[in-house]
Amino acid sequence: MPKGLYWDTEDPYHYIRTTLIDGDAEHELLVIGGEDHRTGQKEHPEESFASLEQWSRQMFPVISDFTYRWSGQIMETIDGLAFIGHDPGHGKNVFVATGDSGMGMTHGTIAGMLISDLIVGNENPWTELYNPSRKPVAAALEYIAENANTGWQYTDYLRPADIKSSADIPCGEGAVIRNGAEIIAVYQDQCGKTIQCGAKCPHLGGIVRWNSVEKSWDCPAHGSRFTATGKVINGPANSNLRPLPEGTGADQEIKTTELPPMPPGDSGIEPPATP
Ligand code: FES
Repeated sequence: MPKGLYWDTEDPYHYIRTTLIDGDAEHELLVIGGEDHRTGQKEHPEESFASLEQWSRQMFPVISDFTYRWSGQIMETIDGLAFIGHDPGHGKNVFVATGDSGMGMTHGTIAGMLISDLIVGNENPWTELYNPSRKPVAAALEYIAENANTGWQYTDYLRPADIKSSADIPCGEGAVIRNGAEIIAVYQDQCGKTIQCGAKCPHLGGIVRWNSVEKSWDCPAHGSRFTATGKVINGPANSNLRPLPEGTGADQEIKTTELPPMPPGDSGIEPPATP
């Protein structure tokens, strides 16, 4: 395969490149990615891997095996360009570079050039393009749809009970249960020990959902993620889920995997990004 990084324009998109293997000078690994979806909003996250494998076998029939699998998170801005420049919330001497949309290497380089110009007062033609305060008119509809999607995630507070007992949660899995007004994230570890936390995300109160592939609690509102035992691993939340003593849970469960339809105009899929 020719050296390079290639991606298609499908939605969700796919990308491929090769990488070296430690201690093997003769072979390389083919890295295949894509099937992006919003954090916490994929009903069966394992399906993303299945789709990716199916796509890979179609494109490269020679593939015999998949050596590794992984997933990660990227921050998408509404118009796909990073926020690089003055931090709008912290005065003129604080600068920010974020919202890389999967293009961290490129944006990191641009940030080094642009922010140094801003600090010393040089003009830079990219200032407005990456201005964190910009309001891209062309992306207004996307902005509205994204906000509608986020608001929709709070309907989790109204979801009915689904399974009868938290004892039905298999080892190594989690589920959200109700105990009166309390909504609880319950994880049964591999030894059968039950670990319980408040299911309310400490950021802005979204209800976390169990991610059966990565064994994490993911917030569908703005993408915060927590370990199975409730420790924060991805912001915007900056604290853990509230730990609860054992026995707090009752025998009801809200269905966290069957999602209602998205608000009109939002597929729930992130726009394509450069890997
Ligand atoms: S409410 Fe959970 S990330 Fe914002």
